[in-house]
Amino acid sequence: MKAAFEGIPNQDPASTAPLPSYPAPNGATPTPRAYTPATVARPANAKSQASSAGEVRLDVSNVYKIFSDDPKPALDMLYAGATKDEVFKKLGVTVGVKDASFQVRSGEIFVIMGLSGSGKSTMIRLLNRLIEPSAGKIVFDGRDLVTMSRKELIGVRRKDMSMVFQSFALMPHLTALDNAAFGLEIAGVPKPKRVEAAMEALKQVGLDQYHARYPREMSGGMQQRVGLARALANNPTIMLMDEAFSALDPLIRTEMQDELLRLQREHKRTIIFISHDLDEAMRIGDRIAIMEGGNIVQVGTPFEILRNPADDYVRSFFRNVDVSRVLRAGDVARFEEEKTVIRVPGVLQPALEQLTDSKNEYGYVRDHDNNYHGTVSRDSLERAITEEGQPRFVHAFLPDIDPVHAEQPLHDVMRTVASAECAVPVVDDQNKFLGAISPATLLKTLNREK
Ligand SMILES: Nc1ncnc2c1ncn2[C@@H]1O[C@H](COP(=O)(O)OP(=O)(O)OP(=O)(O)O)[C@@H](O)[C@H]1O
Ligand SMILES: [Mg+2]
Repeated sequence: MKAAFEGIPNQDPASTAPLPSYPAPNGATPTPRAYTPATVARPANAKSQASSAGEVRLDVSNVYKIFSDDPKPALDMLYAGATKDEVFKKLGVTVGVKDASFQVRSGEIFVIMGLSGSGKSTMIRLLNRLIEPSAGKIVFDGRDLVTMSRKELIGVRRKDMSMVFQSFALMPHLTALDNAAFGLEIAGVPKPKRVEAAMEALKQVGLDQYHARYPREMSGGMQQRVGLARALANNPTIMLMDEAFSALDPLIRTEMQDELLRLQREHKRTIIFISHDLDEAMRIGDRIAIMEGGNIVQVGTPFEILRNPADDYVRSFFRNVDVSRVLRAGDVARFEEEKTVIRVPGVLQPALEQLTDSKNEYGYVRDHDNNYHGTVSRDSLERAITEEGQPRFVHAFLPDIDPVHAEQPLHDVMRTVASAECAVPVVDDQNKFLGAISPATLLKTLNREK
């Protein structure tokens, strides 16, 4: 009557078996294990969880920007394989962006990084056509942005996209409220409505009580918040932020990053954020694109890029990163080799055979909803099987193996991983099993610099 267990990689679709119920050895009902976060390097769940799941909002393919009235000769050279420098030497023409292709998904913070002059500002301005592309395609919510009429484009900018600039770009003679309402005023929104929206936006950035202040009466951080409020006032679904926090001193800058992450938790906008600061990129970015000489040289999650930098240029960005404080247990667990996962409800003897066959000493027990139940070993299974009565998995769980939480920085789980007898299971907020971290994986991750 019990469903047989299966040995499956942890991404397998769930079976339809009923939920198991385990009497604990002493007869009490086991309570789900809860994780109380200790100090976490960044706010737990601050970043979008939906980055890879959201639909594509911006689809950029093979986009070029040549700063010239006649881009064709430069394009021809580039198509034939020339570099930005070669084009400049031969034609005296600057290539801003070269063959850029990437997608930005709904709800993610997509960071563009690169050295000065690598084409970041050009790239972000192409996305709302503040700069016209010389070649390529940009599709926004299924609509071709490049061939869109001026009128349609203005509609998109008003309704969907806002931009925040590095220099706060506030009007000195306008109050915080009027500055925040400025974009709406240009868009012809009637006064009562724009005042209401601007007030709401100021409230979101914590400045509503300062609405009557002029820029000169505000600190740089406050001015940047007003800049942010102006971008938020039309409730955009996409925000383009070009080094928006770069002019702020480090403390205020961190505060603004937190502010952005908080807003993101509430509204889940799609954000494209330019930064030349790696800490900032890692802190807020769901994914990062690295630019060099007009090219996008790599796109990936911070972890993917850290683990597999495309070249020395990318590697140089990440050289001084303290991986153990940036990466979380969940980042590493997801990349673990296939683990023996035992599905419950099930019986112990086949589970033992499964472990033996797969030459694994340990198994991670989960149910069809991927809830983590416990970790067993061949020994513990054997012992439980020889017990009297009706042995169940719960009798075979290793008492000393507690799961770590996906959001915990590696730094905080190092000791646990190093001292555990097996790879340490990792669970998320809902106690779902994400994988396990072995000392070998941990060492490999931390020891990426040769
Ligand atoms: N309007 C323009 N006319 C000619 N060349 C330009 C123009 N705008 C940018 N460029 C050139 O295009 C290249 C990319 O510039 P861009 O401003 O995009 O770089 P960036 O990565 O944003 O740099 P920074 O970090 O300094 O802001 C540079 O070589 C720059 O000189
Ligand atoms: Mg720039």
